[in-house]
Amino acid sequence: MTTILVTGGTGVLGRHVTERLRAAGHDVRVLSRHAPPYAVDLREGGSALDAAVTGVDTVVHCASSPRGGDEKAARNLIAAARRAGVGHLVFISIVGVDRVPYGYYRSKLAVERLVEESGIGWTVLRATQFHDLVLTVLQALAKLPVVLLSARVKDQPVEVTEVAARLSELAQGAPAGRVEDMAGPEVRTFDSLARAYLGATGRRRAVVKVPLRGAAYRAFRAGGHLAPDRAVGTVTFDEFLRERFAAGVTQR
Ligand SMILES: NC(=O)c1ccc[n+]([C@@H]2O[C@H](COP(=O)([O-])OP(=O)(O)OC[C@H]3O[C@@H](n4cnc5c(N)ncnc54)[C@H](OP(=O)(O)O)[C@@H]3O)[C@@H](O)[C@H]2O)c1
Repeated sequence: MTTILVTGGTGVLGRHVTERLRAAGHDVRVLSRHAPPYAVDLREGGSALDAAVTGVDTVVHCASSPRGGDEKAARNLIAAARRAGVGHLVFISIVGVDRVPYGYYRSKLAVERLVEESGIGWTVLRATQFHDLVLTVLQALAKLPVVLLSARVKDQPVEVTEVAARLSELAQGAPAGRVEDMAGPEVRTFDSLARAYLGATGRRRAVVKVPLRGAAYRAFRAGGHLAPDRAVGTVTFDEFLRERFAAGVTQR
């Protein structure tokens, strides 16, 4: 049995990772700002963070906030992990963080560098967008009578439970460095994903494609966030929607 700390273990990905590692018989600690007994804000660190990593063999770093602070959080986590003699640091990143000049992606890339240079054995897995994230975005866009989408942007969403299975497998192995990217089974236009969502939830909305400007948008349009040659996920967005919006489920 290994003692494993999952940062962000209450999040969309982290809770599946936690479940899998516990099912495999490991002693798993969950850290987030609101998860006692390891309620820690990684951006602040301190003695609570030291207590969380003491006696830990492996850290799976899933905690993140697109609102900022990820680099500070990673520095604190790495420093505490080094002090505690952690043997393996596993980090989940995003496909294309080195190709798409988007603020959140830049900070993910910076954290990858910190992990690589941490002096701790490390593994980094990059994944494409989770179906849940695409759904959240579409739910927000569909609050308006017209769904406004970036024109000519595609996505290759992946099922989070499949990413959790891979990440858990990596966490139970030896440090592997940067492993092959993990992407969903289909590359689809964003408007086709939106129409699938509208169909699955019985909503009627016009879908309007809006051209956007800027380097990040150009890089997304060029598919910098996709990995068609790494389409290893098996669950499609349509299957995810069918499961999520099966008869009787009303939360839309
Ligand atoms: N979503 C995607 O499509 C996607 C795709 C590829 C990779 N990823 C990566 O996968 C990871 C998890 O994503 P997710 O969608 O599962 O995220 P999520 O659902 O937003 O969960 C984030 C987790 O991090 C914790 N957290 C945030 N800020 C923290 C802080 N300062 N200190 C301690 N804990 C903190 C949150 O808990 P509290 O709020 O309680 O602190 C929560 O448990 C991220 O690194 C993300 O970049 C995501």
